[in-house]
Amino acid sequence: MIESARDFLLDRWRGWKPSVGIVLGSGIQLSGDDFQEVDRVSCAEIPGLPVPSVEGHGGEWTAFDHSGLPVLLLGGRVHLYEGHSLEALTTGIEILASLGCQKVLLTNAAGGIRPGWQPGEVVMIHGHLDFQVGGLITPGGSGDVFDPIWQQQIQEYRRANGFDGFQEGVYAGLPGPTYETPAEVRMLRKLGADLVGMSTVQEARKAKSLGMDVVAFSLVTNAAAGTGEETELNHDEVLQTGRESRDRVLHAVRTALACCR
Ligand code: HPA
Repeated sequence: MIESARDFLLDRWRGWKPSVGIVLGSGIQLSGDDFQEVDRVSCAEIPGLPVPSVEGHGGEWTAFDHSGLPVLLLGGRVHLYEGHSLEALTTGIEILASLGCQKVLLTNAAGGIRPGWQPGEVVMIHGHLDFQVGGLITPGGSGDVFDPIWQQQIQEYRRANGFDGFQEGVYAGLPGPTYETPAEVRMLRKLGADLVGMSTVQEARKAKSLGMDVVAFSLVTNAAAGTGEETELNHDEVLQTGRESRDRVLHAVRTALACCR
């Protein structure tokens, strides 16, 4: 199945191949003159690729030329809470690897657990807790999933361009679909989580296991349940903060891509 998808894309692109694969969180798009579209293909056309349903996730893959760097945006991220299997979640990542892609950049929307992080903060994920597939699992995994060298280059690039480094934190991946209870968030904080969300972890693990370098950013869209003033979280607010903070996430994406040359 992966091979049919790969052959379909290679045939379509006639020599174009991505060096970096990108999966973006809710409401975020790649835009700007530095992202020149090369091709756009519907997920439904790609053999074996699951088709998404959640609002805010476009079901297309878009090939871009980013100042000479070939990048592939995997729109149509699917989630466990939509009823997709673990395999379905990571099919896109497997296709990327089979295309010879070396790097994967992931973003997501997350609840902020670390005190002081406001909605709109973009945080580089330096570690994760995996609660998505029947508790805490690390099959065959040792060492961090996120690439320390690429991360260091990103932080150095930021500082060299006059910015503070990105905040860094631990992302707890939960299955969803509901947001956490305040009690769960207190537990997660005690376990060392700074961020909580429902994506990213399986894609990151799969990418690492296939030999690709991975970096991920969370956009804090809300204070995690029970840590802010809101009594209840809602998906529309998450999407709205996502839209309002698009440029900050795009800036993080550009910084990470600048370190891929
Ligand atoms: N919890 C889980 N996932 C999320 C949140 C949250 O608070 N915000 C955005 N995605």
